[in-house]
Amino acid sequence: MSTSTRVGIIGAGAIAMHGHIPGIKKHPHGSVVAVCDTNQERANALAASNGISTVYTNWRDIIADPNIDAVTVALPNALHAEVTIAALKAGKHVLCEKPLAMTVAQGEEMVATAHKEGRVLAINMSNRPRAEVQYMKAKVAEGKIGKISYAQGRMIRRAGIPGFGSWFTRKELSGGGALLDIGVHMLDMVLYALGNPKVSAIRGEVQAVHGPQRRGLGGWGSDRVMDGTFDVDDLASLHLRLADGGLVTIEVTWAVYAQNEERIQLIGDQGGFDFYPTLYGNDKPLRFYSDDNGSPIETIPTLPHIADGAGNVIYKRYIDAIRGTGAVVASGDDGLAILRLLEATYKSASEKREISL
Ligand SMILES: NC(=O)c1ccc[n+]([C@@H]2O[C@H](COP(=O)([O-])OP(=O)(O)OC[C@H]3O[C@@H](n4cnc5c(N)ncnc54)[C@H](O)[C@@H]3O)[C@@H](O)[C@H]2O)c1
Repeated sequence: MSTSTRVGIIGAGAIAMHGHIPGIKKHPHGSVVAVCDTNQERANALAASNGISTVYTNWRDIIADPNIDAVTVALPNALHAEVTIAALKAGKHVLCEKPLAMTVAQGEEMVATAHKEGRVLAINMSNRPRAEVQYMKAKVAEGKIGKISYAQGRMIRRAGIPGFGSWFTRKELSGGGALLDIGVHMLDMVLYALGNPKVSAIRGEVQAVHGPQRRGLGGWGSDRVMDGTFDVDDLASLHLRLADGGLVTIEVTWAVYAQNEERIQLIGDQGGFDFYPTLYGNDKPLRFYSDDNGSPIETIPTLPHIADGAGNVIYKRYIDAIRGTGAVVASGDDGLAILRLLEATYKSASEKREISL
């Protein structure tokens, strides 16, 4: 391997611009050497603004480039499996965006290919490195909240639909709406903080209320189609039974008549956490609730400062894992585990029954 790990970016859209490229470039041994997008103008602009000299418009060409060690797949969900599998077979390491794929069958093939080819397959579960999430995870593992009785994750967007007709809102290209787009984050954050307990059953409900009526437009999305197809969910509610008896509920909306809110509560029989992530500018710090000699107490833990920001930890650890100096934050197997739950949620919603896992 050359002194620098050379990364090619596949998909020159929003997350590549705001996440992947700056994140990889922060690593002392990571460099971004090529960009690929079918939208050549977008690829050229992103390359030019980042000093990247090579631009491709066909993903088959970038994965065949011998001067590239690894790629990041920042494409519409429908392309994650095909491009990741082809890249792995071409000998590249892959950091794939979330959700891992559109179906469990695709995800299984991605993970099996990574293992067979001996390449790193990571997934961008970008919320895991947050200091609050890491703190809660460590304390749950130490037994500080005791046996989990109830956990809740909410990501409520008042108006966050990424256009009406872009790939995000077309099921054939996205696989699903709010549940796959942001439900994946909430589900992963809560279960990860709980130490990934076994889930024994899931009951899910999905609805499309605002999208079909062209209401609730948000700011995200590179291709701002306004009058196209919307055939995905914009609200999802999940109830997960844990094998040891606890209950986890997840609620996410792309758009709803309610206040923006992100909240995680982890409640055990010895203590509990209340965390309002700061996405919407809510500055309430993480709180820990317990008792002291029978009296309720509430403490605000001191959290470590994460140099370069929590979001960049994913990219740093991806390069570290390729170079054999660390491990990824979230692996393909982790992405597959969450995908199984997402798929079961859609099955539960369509069959209107609880699904045993
Ligand atoms: N981890 C996170 O927090 C996070 C945040 C946002 C998006 N994402 C994920 O990142 C992925 C991309 O999302 P985005 O918001 O950047 O979307 P986007 O629409 O802004 O970018 C996607 C890009 O892919 C390009 N593209 C489409 N088909 C292509 C093809 N066949 N070959 C090459 N390029 C092609 C499009 O032209 C576009 O530029 C999605 O899977 C999304 O779920 C993750």
